[in-house]
Amino acid sequence: MTASEGRLVGDLAKAIDESDFAWSLVLVGEDQRDKLAALTSDLLGKPSTTGDGKQITSGYAYWGIGPTIAWAHACADPFYLVMKQSLDSFTRRWSRVRGKVGSGFHHVSFGVGTGHKDRLVLDHLLDHNPDLLYVPVDMSSEMLRLGTQQATHGLRVRGHRVVPVQLDFSIPENLAEFRDLVHRMVGDEPVLYSLLGNTMANFDHDAELLAGLTGLVRPQDLFLLEVATTDALSDELAQDAVEEYARSRAYREFATSALMHNTDLTITLDAVRFRGAVEGDRALKVKVVYQNGTGGDIMMMLPDRTRVPFPDQDTIRLYLTRKYARKALDGVVGAAGMRKVVGTHSDFPVPRSAQGFGMDLLLLAPGGPDEPATSGSGSRARDIWEH
Ligand SMILES: C[S@@+](CC[C@H](N)C(=O)[O-])C[C@H]1O[C@@H](n2cnc3c(N)ncnc32)[C@H](O)[C@@H]1O
Repeated sequence: MTASEGRLVGDLAKAIDESDFAWSLVLVGEDQRDKLAALTSDLLGKPSTTGDGKQITSGYAYWGIGPTIAWAHACADPFYLVMKQSLDSFTRRWSRVRGKVGSGFHHVSFGVGTGHKDRLVLDHLLDHNPDLLYVPVDMSSEMLRLGTQQATHGLRVRGHRVVPVQLDFSIPENLAEFRDLVHRMVGDEPVLYSLLGNTMANFDHDAELLAGLTGLVRPQDLFLLEVATTDALSDELAQDAVEEYARSRAYREFATSALMHNTDLTITLDAVRFRGAVEGDRALKVKVVYQNGTGGDIMMMLPDRTRVPFPDQDTIRLYLTRKYARKALDGVVGAAGMRKVVGTHSDFPVPRSAQGFGMDLLLLAPGGPDEPATSGSGSRARDIWEH
């Protein structure tokens, strides 16, 4: 970089830090027209009554200002139990694992959401690294803006140390580029990556997604993973999981929001259906679908203005989620090349059910289960990295 380019970057950082206006410097990692084309083609799927044809995949459910606001409303809804409990109990769960994160860490958050959890993580990391870099990554620029403001408001993090990145992290090529970017920014200093709020469960290929994200982790880094869990697997429990989502009107509004903003369908919340099933020995799986129950075929306009049929009884999958069998977690983590440094579990009562659902927060490090636990920058893994 030339001296004048260095001055420009320095001046920009200073202008952001010294202004009272809420500037945010966002790195946009991909062409948004490609995203719109991908969403359009996902909505062109074959007819299916089971949510296996047309679909809105994970990131698109939150894409844009309408879905972002709907998500913030759903998170605040006391009837959307899984998210409410996840947010309410995060302080306690994080306080049980954070002691294992050493000093000098930067923070990369995959899927910032409302930013409430990132705030707690940052607050702790800043005590040990006042100069940390905070890199929230999200497909939705509106979510990035909302979440980043909540995450950093009132904290001692300077504006130019916050680098929001708009990127679809489910695309391997994106992750390869992102890995380069992060490593250039932090050098050899350790990074705490996080994937919180059961985000992993929203992907068809969840194990591949986790492996892709943990592929960024070097020996001196750590990875914080939060997933919804179940003590047992059965069809009855899959039904209990369905009820947990079906109870919240705000959740249905969120789930239909992307459809409302990207098609000309007249949305009715009664058309939202929930399908629960057991997924092998690893999870309870819940599909949220929008079903044409009008008794007739509907024509639906897509974002590119093409009109396609939405036949009677056809479905559009709006959302996918899971509750992982607690017993299966070590296998899931191991398959991503990681091992548990420390984990914490919170039980949530399920109305009318004896079995418990909960959330697990796991601090992971790279390597197999037999390697000794690390404690961040003072760890053996770091020693190996440095020598
Ligand atoms: C379930 S929310 C979790 C939010 C937050 N981490 C929490 O725990 O409250 C998922 C977040 O990930 C983002 N997201 C989902 N799929 C994504 C993708 N493929 N690429 C980038 N961001 C994605 C969403 O926009 C949303 O902010």
